[in-house]
Amino acid sequence: MSEDLNIITGTKQEQYEALLPQVVALLDGEEDIVANLANVAAALKQQFNWWWVGFYMVKNNVLVVGPFQGPVACCRITKGRGVCGTAWELEKTIIVPDVELFPGHIACSSISKSEIVVPLFKDGIVMGVLDADSEFLNNFDETDQYYLQKLLSLIPL
Ligand code: SME
Repeated sequence: MSEDLNIITGTKQEQYEALLPQVVALLDGEEDIVANLANVAAALKQQFNWWWVGFYMVKNNVLVVGPFQGPVACCRITKGRGVCGTAWELEKTIIVPDVELFPGHIACSSISKSEIVVPLFKDGIVMGVLDADSEFLNNFDETDQYYLQKLLSLIPL
């Protein structure tokens, strides 16, 4: 396929609906995990222009930063720490409307105001997490959760 992403305007739902088939096409025929995570992070950044979006992957029982788009970030997060480590521990998506109000939030950037972290599962085991940060308060909701979970389920691990 062409590597150009078709960026659309519209509601959040319309944006995800347009993005998902394009991500399916991007992933098609590619099995390399880093390649696929890199393109998913880039596609989300292009469509939504979040402050930071990318992956932390479980390696030797710690989350290590993986492919991402945005400013430099902390490298390692232990289980139960921050939003990422908590999503890993609880094995569920966490939406943080205001990072100041999340106890233990790890501030990689003082610009970040709200955040969503979605676990990446393989055979029921958390392999990593997708983390998206916004410079706006209350930027993420159940629509993001629904579509990001769907999107992550498309990535071959
Ligand atoms: N805020 C995250 C850390 C990762 S950075 O935001 C990229 C957390 O609390 O886990």
